[in-house]
Amino acid sequence: MTFRVLGIETSCDETAAAVVADGTEVLSSVVSSQVDLHARFGGVVPEIASRAHVELLTPAVAQAMVEAGLEGAQLGAVAATVGPGLAGALLVGISAAKALSLVWGVPFVGVNHMEAHLYANFLEEPHIEPPLLVLLVSGGHTMLVAMDGHGSYRLLGTTVDDAVGEAYDKVARFLGLGYPGGPAIDRLAVHGDPAAIAFPRPMPQGFDFSLSGLKTAVIRYVRDHPEAANADVAASFQAAVVDMLIDKSRRAAAETGATTFCIGGGVAANSLLRERVLDLCEEEGMRAVLPSREMCTDNAAMVAAAAWWRFRSDGPTPLDVGAQPNLRLV
Ligand code: KG4
Ligand code: ZN
Repeated sequence: MTFRVLGIETSCDETAAAVVADGTEVLSSVVSSQVDLHARFGGVVPEIASRAHVELLTPAVAQAMVEAGLEGAQLGAVAATVGPGLAGALLVGISAAKALSLVWGVPFVGVNHMEAHLYANFLEEPHIEPPLLVLLVSGGHTMLVAMDGHGSYRLLGTTVDDAVGEAYDKVARFLGLGYPGGPAIDRLAVHGDPAAIAFPRPMPQGFDFSLSGLKTAVIRYVRDHPEAANADVAASFQAAVVDMLIDKSRRAAAETGATTFCIGGGVAANSLLRERVLDLCEEEGMRAVLPSREMCTDNAAMVAAAAWWRFRSDGPTPLDVGAQPNLRLV
């Protein structure tokens, strides 16, 4: 029998609700972006995010259920992101999901946001099987993960300083490109020369990443060269970031003998990264899985997908679980 999960995502600045069947088929996916509310502050304001989630979540859930053509009692579970993320923002989604689970008499499932980013890959390619090599790159996290089985992960590398998305956002803010910075740099880079400026590509030990040296180099360069075209700076910065991500991914693939490579997180929507991942996989003989751009940035379909797998292995999550702002994947 088909098992449908309502997913709820409120960990940061997107209020999202979605219904997914059997962890793979998206029946509806609603994302109410709060970008306009936060843009004038140059970043996410936690208190504004929590209040906006309270206003936007009920309509988002209603729309997701109507589009899926379902009544609450027809669901197999209601899931929400429990962490990592902003505490107040997470609480809005968790409280709503628990309340709906009680009212509709269906189980509640708490989901790790980064595991959800990973499971966006199963929405794209339902038949992939672990082991998988996964690059997760978002606003708060940067991880190379070996997924040995469902729910079984090994952390191969992470960032020693800034997350990749954070570096994108900080550089964009410095260049006056507004918030969120990643998509702005991605768009502008198309018009620039990626070889115009030779920015450093710091390579810490093993599979770890370091972004803050590059970010500082960009800021210093622009201060010293006020005449530099923003498009060239954006393209050269992006080329350096993607080189670092691809280089470490290639090494991790060689060491783990991975045959399938997946990506996830907001930065996985980046055009250059997507192109270079396809090249990498062709060169190394790996299968590439790229979630659609909409499923890379925060959404609730990925939460519902991850919840389906979690529910199968662990069953319902106790209702006394709270927000876990620093929840880890591994
Ligand atoms: O996964 P996500 O939507 O939220 C978090 O879990 O953090 O990721 C947001 C991050 C932001 O830093 C944003 O600038 C970045 O993803 N991002 C991008 C692109 N789209 C979003 N970075 C580079 N290129 C993009 N096209
Ligand atoms: Zn995210």
